[in-house]
Amino acid sequence: MRMKRKDTPSRSRETNLMAAKRPNQSEERTLSRAGFLKASGGFLTATALGQYCTTGANRYPSGTSDPLQSAQSAGLDSPILQILNAGISAPNPHNTQAWKFRILSPTEALLYVDETRVLPQTDPTTRQVHMGQGCFLEIAAVSAGQVGYDASVDLFPENYKASDAGNKPVASIKLTPSSNKDPLYPFVANRHTVRAAYDGPAITHREYQTLASLASPHVSELRATPAADLKQHLEFHMSGFEAEMKDFNTAEESRLWFRIGNDEIYSKRDGISLAGNGITGFQKWFIETFFLSHDPKDYYDPDGQKIFMDRYRENLFTAKGQVLFITKTNTVKDWVLCGRDYARYQLAAASLGLVMRPTSQLMQEFASMQPLAQKYNEFVGVKSPAKIQINALIGRADVDFLSPRRPLQDMIRA
Ligand SMILES: Cc1cc2nc3c(=O)[nH]c(=O)nc-3n(C[C@H](O)[C@H](O)[C@H](O)COP(=O)(O)O)c2cc1C
Repeated sequence: MRMKRKDTPSRSRETNLMAAKRPNQSEERTLSRAGFLKASGGFLTATALGQYCTTGANRYPSGTSDPLQSAQSAGLDSPILQILNAGISAPNPHNTQAWKFRILSPTEALLYVDETRVLPQTDPTTRQVHMGQGCFLEIAAVSAGQVGYDASVDLFPENYKASDAGNKPVASIKLTPSSNKDPLYPFVANRHTVRAAYDGPAITHREYQTLASLASPHVSELRATPAADLKQHLEFHMSGFEAEMKDFNTAEESRLWFRIGNDEIYSKRDGISLAGNGITGFQKWFIETFFLSHDPKDYYDPDGQKIFMDRYRENLFTAKGQVLFITKTNTVKDWVLCGRDYARYQLAAASLGLVMRPTSQLMQEFASMQPLAQKYNEFVGVKSPAKIQINALIGRADVDFLSPRRPLQDMIRA
């Protein structure tokens, strides 16, 4: 990756930086002392560097990953606010958090798509943003038992089509007292998408079975990929990612949601980042301080892009298993319910000590992806109106980064 243009060292050395797990001593020596001091303001103490390198569990603004504790710190005392606060920890495309709420009473709310946070390039049909609505509903419903309620979710209370996004509610949520607790609630606080390298053995048939029974999907066929076929699927996903990166509009959409440096990550509290891609600690600090910037010349620097793609491939091919979420039809209702299935499956995986990541490119609807998407559908044997809505690559990894969420109050409309 090119050095941020205000700093100067030679380009050949720069290109090694992203690839290295940690810069070696000679690289550290070659770093311009002036550049280092300039970027650090001359005040980079060991403590400051330590704080910067810590990725931690700052999912909520109060600095905790516990939804109910954070609700308490934020003064969210009604049951519905507590449950919405848990729901917003859900997986969602690019972490744009495209949710907004209308509170009807201490036990009722309406959920809408936040139409200012959709992804028109990678998600032109809004299929994925509606899956994100389902993910929210599942995590909210799982959390309701923890505060003594059952959440009844009524989809599309005013009739609904995809073009109503933002204007009509996707769902109404109503709480009634209950003493039932969901056994997957303990995994809400630390559920997260892991894109770092996975280790450990291949996912077994028994693990797939346990996951399916814990998830008990609403609409999705959970099709596990036989171990012998996994590599071919991963090659497809790699090609899908390359195609998305080559398409200027879709690549640019990701650039706009990319957050660089802890100040930006924790002030905007949305979007994607190096840390979310498994690049943490010193390496993250180093790249964000000296190389990566919002300037498209830095962001799209061919050397940097190559290193990023190599790293992506390296991590992708460590997947230990895969499940495809396939629906028989492809309606807005399928999208929302499949989102619920995906989020529950991720909690189920966490309960077995497993982590997951989707690679959605081949399922996306933008024009330049279609030839490859068609090949993948033929390879898997899925024909319209059936649809692969999402995949989950599965494995084991220890990563402590939790992508932050905006304050719930910012998502509430009068
Ligand atoms: C419908 C949907 C599609 C997604 N597609 C991708 C994807 O293609 N690649 C990826 O790395 N993550 C993908 N994600 C994961 C999100 O980026 C992730 O949930 C979000 O950044 C929040 O992070 P968290 O899950 O760790 O809380 C997807 C999530 C959803 C719900």
